[in-house]
Amino acid sequence: MIQLAPSLLSSDLLNMGDAIRACEQGGADLLHYDVMDGHFVPPITYGPDFVRAIKRTSTLPVDVHLMVTNPDHQVEQFAVAGADWISVHAEATPHAHRTLHRIKALGKRAGFVLNPATPLEYAFEVAGDADFILLMSVNPGYGGQSFIESFLPRCERLRTWLDTRGFSDVEIEVDGGIKIDNARRAADAGASILVSGSGIFSGSIGDNLAAMRTAVGR
Ligand code: DX5
Ligand code: ZN
Repeated sequence: MIQLAPSLLSSDLLNMGDAIRACEQGGADLLHYDVMDGHFVPPITYGPDFVRAIKRTSTLPVDVHLMVTNPDHQVEQFAVAGADWISVHAEATPHAHRTLHRIKALGKRAGFVLNPATPLEYAFEVAGDADFILLMSVNPGYGGQSFIESFLPRCERLRTWLDTRGFSDVEIEVDGGIKIDNARRAADAGASILVSGSGIFSGSIGDNLAAMRTAVGR
């Protein structure tokens, strides 16, 4: 089963309630929530209070992607606010095992994120500690960028590595440039959670979700 995760970054901030309802009705599996600190990446987005507000209006799990320099400062705040999944970047998390176990101890699904140029070996080292590995298919910071094709062999390699070493329960999430026309290739390469911002929020959210579901075929 492929999980579709609309990235709220591309939604209209002042009408996000309507966008979330459209995501629910369109069959989204979770809501991807991008936290940017103006330091790890140039833009600044939103903090934990907004997660709290989303959780009051929706039952969909919230997938918090922390693009911040000091994720250890943020993990607990987002967990308390109601985040269901929390992922931290390899490039910003020097004590990865400790941080991932902290997320799990807070009762959340723990994810480890790799930028497109970060060696896969970073994920291998924490395969037994993370619930999912998020492979970026763009350099983080902005919605609407083009999918980096080298994601595909990289994802296949990670999926194979996980499956052959007893980590078949560790899922791969892909984030960046996923649209209706390339979602199938990402899923076939081994990604089971597909984040899509501009691919879902330009035009009809319901139609786009339905088309993406049909495109992935599962
Ligand atoms: C990029 C963010 C993504 C972004 C994806 O840094 O992590 O979640 O919103 O947007 P699209 O799907 O438009 O590339
Ligand atoms: Zn993201």
